[in-house]
Amino acid sequence: MYTKIQETASWLKERMTTSPKTAIVLGTGLGQLASEITDTYEFPYQDIPNFPVSTVEGHKGKLIFGKLGGVDIMAMQGRFHFYEGYSMKDVTFPVRVMYELGITTLYVSNAAGGMNPQFKIGDLMIITDHINLFPEHPLRGKNFPTGPRFPDMHETYDHNLIAEADSIANDLNIPVQHGVYVGVQGPTFETPAEYKMYRIFGGDAVGMSTVPEVIVAHHCGIKTFGISVITDLGGFDVPVEVSHEEVQEAANMAQPKMTAIMREMIIRAERIQAHNQDKFNTDHPTEGWK
Ligand code: HPA
Repeated sequence: MYTKIQETASWLKERMTTSPKTAIVLGTGLGQLASEITDTYEFPYQDIPNFPVSTVEGHKGKLIFGKLGGVDIMAMQGRFHFYEGYSMKDVTFPVRVMYELGITTLYVSNAAGGMNPQFKIGDLMIITDHINLFPEHPLRGKNFPTGPRFPDMHETYDHNLIAEADSIANDLNIPVQHGVYVGVQGPTFETPAEYKMYRIFGGDAVGMSTVPEVIVAHHCGIKTFGISVITDLGGFDVPVEVSHEEVQEAANMAQPKMTAIMREMIIRAERIQAHNQDKFNTDHPTEGWK
């Protein structure tokens, strides 16, 4: 596995003309951000050695490198979901590659069903924590030397990035919610009983992505930040019927708000990072590892 990761990272490094420290997974609600990236060069997933190929309708699979507001970034357009049949190693492969490329901060977005009765469709929820209900753990198997065998998960979502997002949302006059994201395998949406159960568990929203990538990023020492767009509601006294189309529609409506927050965060975080260079982890424990 590690040889494959290195092979992919070397292939990309040979072709990269920038050295981004920031990566974004352009999940639901962030598609528009791709069009704001300038000075781009791209690699369709099918051209990248060892990369899984994305299958879900509406997800164009490619890595986009370029600048966002002057900041060098790397963006994943199209992610790999466990429900598509990919192994957890495949789902999280791009994050391992990001680490090898020197990424130190990862931004992710997703669509999620809201169980918190305060939530409305179209709300943005800053993810403060998660509950991992995927049936296979992404760190199962031989431990990678990027992190410990039994990683601490105390602060999986970086509190400084959350504070920054709050301040930006406030400046931009965009209301945001905060909450716990429950990660499930899908592909079924939840039954009313399941929504209720996840609420009792302590969840605010439920979705089928993000948790595997975030766990692996955290294990690599990559700071992570995530936002969910609440595309449907369940678990309390509301209709729970939901379709993929409704999810897309709600996500499209929330897209400008999500894009504005993420764009500003990336620009501001880069400024902070530039002032704190030495605080960031730049040594690579996977060097020489097989
Ligand atoms: N459940 C799981 N995943 C989702 C949902 C949901 O209600 N909405 C959007 N993605």
